[in-house]
Amino acid sequence: MTAMTPDDLTRQVLGAFEGTPQPRLLELMSSLVGHLHAFAAENRLSPQEWREGIDFLTATGQKCDSERQEFILLSDVLGLSSLIEMINAAGAATEATVLGPFYVAGAPRRAAGEQLGRPQDGEPTLVTGVVTDTRGRALPEATLDVWQSSANGLYDTQDPEQPPFNLRGVFVTGPDGRYRFRTARPVSYPIPTDGPVGGLLQATARHCWRAAHIHAIVSAAGCSPVTTHIFDADNPYLDSDAVFGVRDSLVRPFRPAGPGDPPDVSFVAEMDFTLVPAAQEV
Ligand code: BEZ
Ligand code: FE
Repeated sequence: MTAMTPDDLTRQVLGAFEGTPQPRLLELMSSLVGHLHAFAAENRLSPQEWREGIDFLTATGQKCDSERQEFILLSDVLGLSSLIEMINAAGAATEATVLGPFYVAGAPRRAAGEQLGRPQDGEPTLVTGVVTDTRGRALPEATLDVWQSSANGLYDTQDPEQPPFNLRGVFVTGPDGRYRFRTARPVSYPIPTDGPVGGLLQATARHCWRAAHIHAIVSAAGCSPVTTHIFDADNPYLDSDAVFGVRDSLVRPFRPAGPGDPPDVSFVAEMDFTLVPAAQEV
């Protein structure tokens, strides 16, 4: 009788899943088992190392509650959230990027041009542009659900000093597909580092900073929505964003306001969005 090899074991485990009735689940579990076994075998993972891995995953789960999702943060710093957005993106639409953990549904609808946030939230900035479909047709009544952190790097949900829905709002495009809102110029901020993901960043000598950005979910009837960011071109973390969220096509200058711009803003950023009609998706 010959000794069982690692390959024999992998085949045996794959065989145990063969009766999975749902084809997609079978496909995913088979692939997951194959890659996990290869990872352990190729790296000759020791019991002690796997114990540390399990302890890390346990601590990650224990850090989660109704406000904090450490597993999403782990997915973010591994670039997995970004990869999944990328491989599911609808062709010619504005590039998608990570949702992040700070989205809150139900932000108030705001009038065109309305100010998000308070004077202490940062330098006054006008953001404006047009929402079109991939054929270039302006999309009236499209919505932009927008959120961002304050000058102290904190979102309202992290900062008891900020009123609920500070720096959050839903804007609707006009008949010409145009939108505009006033907000604070975004700043770089650290992702949460007080949990196991912070420990992982430290152990791997990685920094925790996100490139300055404004979040937006852009939606219109009959089109696939896009979850994306507007990044400030003048930011030192564009090439090393902690969650790999930056796409060149989402980077915009926040130019100093000049003649012809509203007198109450210091900077202007222009960002157009393109949505794919739902029927056109492959
Ligand atoms: C954010 O942009 O809000 C974010 C994204 C991923 C991890 C942490 C924060
Ligand atoms: Fe953010």
